[in-house]
Amino acid sequence: MDLETVMDAARNAASNAYAPYSGFRVGAAILTESGALHAGCNVENASYGLGICAERSAAVAMALADTEDRGIQLVAVSSPNAAPCFPCGACRQFLREFGCKEVVVEDPAESTGFRRYPFEEMLPHSFGPEVL
Ligand code: THU
Repeated sequence: MDLETVMDAARNAASNAYAPYSGFRVGAAILTESGALHAGCNVENASYGLGICAERSAAVAMALADTEDRGIQLVAVSSPNAAPCFPCGACRQFLREFGCKEVVVEDPAESTGFRRYPFEEMLPHSFGPEVL
């Protein structure tokens, strides 16, 4: 699956964001190791701290969809409010759990319209399930 298709899924998901408090809409799309696509958007709450980011909501959708396909090849992130929009620290750790290899963000400075980052650059020296 090409990256444009994955980013399109993230863009579409952003349009479903529930962000009445921040007004900051985010969509994420996860491409699994087996080639499945799972999207998520941020979902905020009147009890502010309970809101969930787009990246984590996509990872939860992935975990629910197929217990045999929970390896993350890459995650694409899109926001109409900011480009690039990088995953927050909590989401980086959440994605790390499932072996995420790469993060792709929209970047108007790039001719492709997006930029790819190895996950190791996003969360170096990370803690993961294999040490437990
Ligand atoms: N947010 C995400 O969903 N993903 C990001 O990468 C950054 C931030 C959400 C959380 C909150 O609903 C809103 O954006 C403002 O922080």
